[in-house]
Amino acid sequence: MRMLIVSNRLPFTVIEKEGMFEFKESVGGMVSGLSAYIDSMKTSSFIELKYIWIGWPGITIEDIKQKEQLKLKALSDFHAYPIFLSEEIMDKFYHGFCNKTIWPLFHYFPFYTVYDEDSWKCYKHVNEMFCEAIMEIIKPDDIVWVHDYHLMLLPGLLKKRSPENPVGFFLHIPFPSFEIFRMLPKKWQKELLEGIVGADLAGFHTHEYTQYFLRCVLRILGHEHNMGKIITKNKIVRADTYPMGIDFPKFNNHTNNMQVQKEEDKFDRTLANYRIILSIDRLDYTKGIINRLRSYEIFLERYKQWHKKLILLLIVVPSRIGVEHYQQNKKEIDELVGRINGKFGSIDWTPISYQYKFLPFGSLIALYKRSDIALITPLRDGMNLVSKEYIAARTDKTGVLILSEMAGASKELGEAIIINPNNTEEIIEALKEALEMPREEQIRKNHIMQERLKCYDVVKWAHDFLNDLISVGEEQKRFDAKLLNRKVKEEMKVDFNKARRRLILLDYDGTLVPFAPSPEMAVPNQDILNILISYLKDMRNEIVLLSGRDKDTLGRWFELPNINIVAEHGILIKEKNCDWSIAKQLNDQWKTRILPLLRLYVDRVPGSFIEEKGFSIAWHYRKADPEQSSQQAKDLMDTLVNLTANIDVQIMQGNKVVEIRNTGFNKGTAGMHWISKNEYDFILAIGDDFTDEDLFRILPDTAYSIRVGITQSYARFNLHNYVEVIELLRQMVEVNVISDIINKEIYNEIPS
Ligand code: UDP
Ligand code: G6P
Repeated sequence: MRMLIVSNRLPFTVIEKEGMFEFKESVGGMVSGLSAYIDSMKTSSFIELKYIWIGWPGITIEDIKQKEQLKLKALSDFHAYPIFLSEEIMDKFYHGFCNKTIWPLFHYFPFYTVYDEDSWKCYKHVNEMFCEAIMEIIKPDDIVWVHDYHLMLLPGLLKKRSPENPVGFFLHIPFPSFEIFRMLPKKWQKELLEGIVGADLAGFHTHEYTQYFLRCVLRILGHEHNMGKIITKNKIVRADTYPMGIDFPKFNNHTNNMQVQKEEDKFDRTLANYRIILSIDRLDYTKGIINRLRSYEIFLERYKQWHKKLILLLIVVPSRIGVEHYQQNKKEIDELVGRINGKFGSIDWTPISYQYKFLPFGSLIALYKRSDIALITPLRDGMNLVSKEYIAARTDKTGVLILSEMAGASKELGEAIIINPNNTEEIIEALKEALEMPREEQIRKNHIMQERLKCYDVVKWAHDFLNDLISVGEEQKRFDAKLLNRKVKEEMKVDFNKARRRLILLDYDGTLVPFAPSPEMAVPNQDILNILISYLKDMRNEIVLLSGRDKDTLGRWFELPNINIVAEHGILIKEKNCDWSIAKQLNDQWKTRILPLLRLYVDRVPGSFIEEKGFSIAWHYRKADPEQSSQQAKDLMDTLVNLTANIDVQIMQGNKVVEIRNTGFNKGTAGMHWISKNEYDFILAIGDDFTDEDLFRILPDTAYSIRVGITQSYARFNLHNYVEVIELLRQMVEVNVISDIINKEIYNEIPS
């Protein structure tokens, strides 16, 4: 098994110096986390991870020869497969849609968000380019793991081209609430969600992000979920939470690292007399660096006793400087640092030591180890690994972490001093609390956090995700194995052709026609009627339509000679060319008790309505707000269960409908009416919801039964949708006509 890791950025960034390529470590949590996973897998002695990392090398190269050179080196030295993108494309895709649209919006900066159709088109184009590139190298056994907001359309594209390969998607930034996500144009919303839902598994850092995503999927695509499992038209997708961890031993165990030692000695020489507050982030307006500096400024104004005893080490790592908000942020930081240092500093003390650069591992660890406090206050952050690394690096377990509640990491690091980054007061008081926190308390808190970080490390994160990805694939395969394939279809046709008496039991809504916004709109079209008539013309065929609908509608829509109809899920039966009859005299008094309750729900849920039938009542909510109605339907089910405890009725939740009907009758009991005649040597039953399961359950083993949709069923086979059902019915009847001609058998024609 090989893993294809796909992300916009490769773990290295190429720079060209005097015609030569140099490879530099890439910056950021996504690369950092994944690289840590790969490194730890390399050192693990028992599992060999075969992988290729596909992505952009961080440079535009036009020359074909140079591209080839780079490709070879990337593959041999880094297991990487570079995708080359022109400067113009990168500008619209990376600086444009990714970092001027998705990044600000998903981090709750709607006023920074740019909505530009050209950039969106380019985003789509780059996702397609990635798909093409993957198609060049993918093998049948490969697992594909797509990362982050740059490639949200890719899972869907990949699954279309290569449905057999498991495809996972992980989002490293927050998934925003519906109110924020809906600010995108509708078309983009839909396509982005469809892209992610195209994966087999979609992962998010926190439970909140997962829930926001599921909510958007429900509201925008209309797919409900069950414990994170979404069933789309033709596949299962799971959405779940996987908080990314760190390589704990790498940060905790560095006693023999000379580089770390050297850096620590340097700090000892220069900073020994100060308490150190560490602030370290990529340059990003989401990191709240400005708020942090302002809070530090007020802290110094308010608590003068700390002057000359404290230093704020401000490390800002260059990032996305091509986007103007980043340039602006950098300018503001520079000015603010200058102002604070000017205001409080003296010849022998500079309150902020500011560095605008990337720190290599050795320096980073030394900083973590030497800092008394880590002040990490993003306004929004998908996870924030720096906070976890700081805790892990504290081998003596001292140190205080001040962490923003807006960082995903705060969900796991609850023992830290958690602050609201918008509230300067909270940051100031947190600094005071941190500086005064007794050593024992620091040790106690950090011990708990370290244990947690040790357990859920980056390897566990990746393993959990990949295991779940494989298990979704297996579940999907179990369904695929039940899909009615060509071989079974052929066998079925042969059996159908040679049979002397055939019983065909068909559900209507969702099986022969798609669901319409309201029941009266799902009128059968001429095509369906023609197919049914073709069957009805042949006296060997017994056609039974079994529906939950009322008898009047069914009778009006299917005024066809020789057709049998079952209405209201089995309560009313119309045998061919006869009148309706009721299976047994039933009491319908209960309806007067239930109706007022249902009317209450109609008032509560705009767009929902009641369908009253002879012996059942249905509350439909297909046209209502999906989220509100889904909640209210659950609520109604609960209330109905209590209200009807002493009445002989059954409550069922169907496809966007809650139905109450008399017990003792179902499609199974109705189907038995024909099956018990024992005269059929071919039986076929097709249905799409759980009311059809009653029928599937009582069929003889030799019968063909088909459930429409990807779901567990008593039926022997599945088909994806009603289109496939119509096609199957058409094919069977066409085959029948041909064999009739061959056999020169003539049946009485029935006028249609
Ligand atoms: N990092 C680094 N050198 C630096 C600053 C940061 O190697 O000078 C690494 C850090 O160890 C962490 C990552 O960059 O693993 C930053 O990830 P985080 O999730 O904190 O923030 P992001 O950049 O993803 O927003
Ligand atoms: C941060 C984010 C990641 C993102 C990365 C991209 O690390 O947390 O989600 O993938 O930035 O950074 P880039 O330098 O490629 O824009």
